Amino acid sequence: MNLKQIKWHSFESQVSLDQAAMERVVALAESSIKTRGQFHLVLAGGSTPKNVYTLLKNVKTDWHKWQVYFGDERCLDSGHQDRNSTMAFEAWLNHIDIPVQNIHAIPAELGPVEGAYLYNQTLSQVGDFDLVLLGLGEDAHTASLFPGRSWDNNLDALAIFDAPKPPPLRISMSPARLSRSKSVLFLVSGKEKQTAINQWKAGDLIPASTVTCNNGVDVFCFNVS
Ligand code: 6PG
Repeated sequence: MNLKQIKWHSFESQVSLDQAAMERVVALAESSIKTRGQFHLVLAGGSTPKNVYTLLKNVKTDWHKWQVYFGDERCLDSGHQDRNSTMAFEAWLNHIDIPVQNIHAIPAELGPVEGAYLYNQTLSQVGDFDLVLLGLGEDAHTASLFPGRSWDNNLDALAIFDAPKPPPLRISMSPARLSRSKSVLFLVSGKEKQTAINQWKAGDLIPASTVTCNNGVDVFCFNVS
């Protein structure tokens, strides 16, 4: 993806970034529901998106038309505090009347191989997403795609065995699957991400730069430039 297709947005505060991100999600939801009757959203893990999910709790929308997926998951027991899905449920999904069948959690409690196999089956029934949310790690990883690895882009969901960010066992959507979306939005906060942003802006091949989008990739930044 050429750098021209990446749109960098700097925010003066975390609050303003979170508000803008929530508004972007809602705007895309409204247009997707209007044009195709549903909104297919992929959630980012980690801690940065938590306040955005909390803001979404109070949005007035038809939650029955939302379909929620996860870009990656840690292979921990269902409900484990360190799971990305647990954070999303506690901040948002437990507080809205979204049908349980509209939330497509990754069955990571089954382990990387079985969980990835089943999530591939889930994703094989799903077309392009409307919005993919992603975070960025200090080492420029995104989802559970870490530097120095290669990935089978013929698969939608990948078994990860050696994640340097604990836990090592994970499941991640592939770069190709994360790129099958009308919109991609990264949420990046914290000075510790500056090196990764510098690499990205220099055109280095980092995991984050393997995720592309025909409509361009947006990167919302706070405390990093
Ligand atoms: C994970 C996430 C990961 C995360 C980044 C940023 O499972 O750890 O999917 O890709 O988005 O590490 O994490 P923070 O938002 O906590 O900085």
